[in-house]
Amino acid sequence: MPTALITGASGGIGYELAKLFTRDHHNLVLVARSADKLGQVATELQPCGIDVKTIALDLAAPPAPKFLFDQLQREGIGIDILVNNAGFGAFGEFAEMSEEEILGQISLNITALTELTRLFLPSMIARRSGRILNVASTAAFQPGPLMAVYYATKAYVLSFSEAIANELRGSGVTVTCFCPGATHTGFARRAGTETSRLFKQIGAMSAERVARDGYRALMSGRTTAISGAHNWFAAQSTRFAPRKLVTAVSRWVAEKSE
Ligand SMILES: NC(=O)c1ccc[n+]([C@@H]2O[C@H](COP(=O)([O-])OP(=O)(O)OC[C@H]3O[C@@H](n4cnc5c(N)ncnc54)[C@H](OP(=O)(O)O)[C@@H]3O)[C@@H](O)[C@H]2O)c1
Repeated sequence: MPTALITGASGGIGYELAKLFTRDHHNLVLVARSADKLGQVATELQPCGIDVKTIALDLAAPPAPKFLFDQLQREGIGIDILVNNAGFGAFGEFAEMSEEEILGQISLNITALTELTRLFLPSMIARRSGRILNVASTAAFQPGPLMAVYYATKAYVLSFSEAIANELRGSGVTVTCFCPGATHTGFARRAGTETSRLFKQIGAMSAERVARDGYRALMSGRTTAISGAHNWFAAQSTRFAPRKLVTAVSRWVAEKSE
């Protein structure tokens, strides 16, 4: 049975992805900070006849990706599919944002994702088989005033993923960058964007539906996938409109809804 490692699997999109892997008979390694929530997910999924290992870890702490890799090596658990899903955003003007929030987003959304990819990729290449799913966002396609760091981290994820997907052509390893738009999860609460126009007026998709789109893209080896037709059109529109206009619209969408 193949094994999938999912970061951020204690809730939201990661949890829904874990259910899809379970349905298709994959053993799971689930990572997030909260041990109790991971335990609940394991209790729910284990009766489906798969092995579920949970590891409670703050991936934003620099040694965490290596710690995770070393622990799995020691236990002889090989990873066939890596899902870099854990991520968070913080709302507010950059000049007023705390160092912790700024560096935390960069550490989790960029550094941990890159480091986990670096660590797990060589064995996939050696086996000539493996899949990596990097969860970016439609935020990757334009600058994001009021969430400047978050949007920039997701632009990194898109660029990085597409580049290495190209490098890995013919290797047997696929890299998929998955870009959800607004989705009903714990994300907006943590980010402080529950009252934004994006979430209140434009509306969010269900985590279940979004995870299905991501899972399908991963399993078909697509390089880039955007969840939802409206999100696809919005992302494409940024390619032709003037950059200043795109940035202004992005701010309007992020602002609080009256
Ligand atoms: N929801 C949206 O509107 C939306 C839109 C586009 C893209 N995305 C992206 O989708 C991905 C999943 O987000 P979500 O919407 O499912 O959010 P979520 O409901 O907040 O889930 C985030 C997951 O990441 C884990 N996590 C957070 N910080 C962590 C850390 N430092 N170390 C380890 N695990 C950590 C959380 O568990 P613990 O709290 O237990 O650590 C949770 O399992 C993220 O990369 C996000 O940027 C979300």
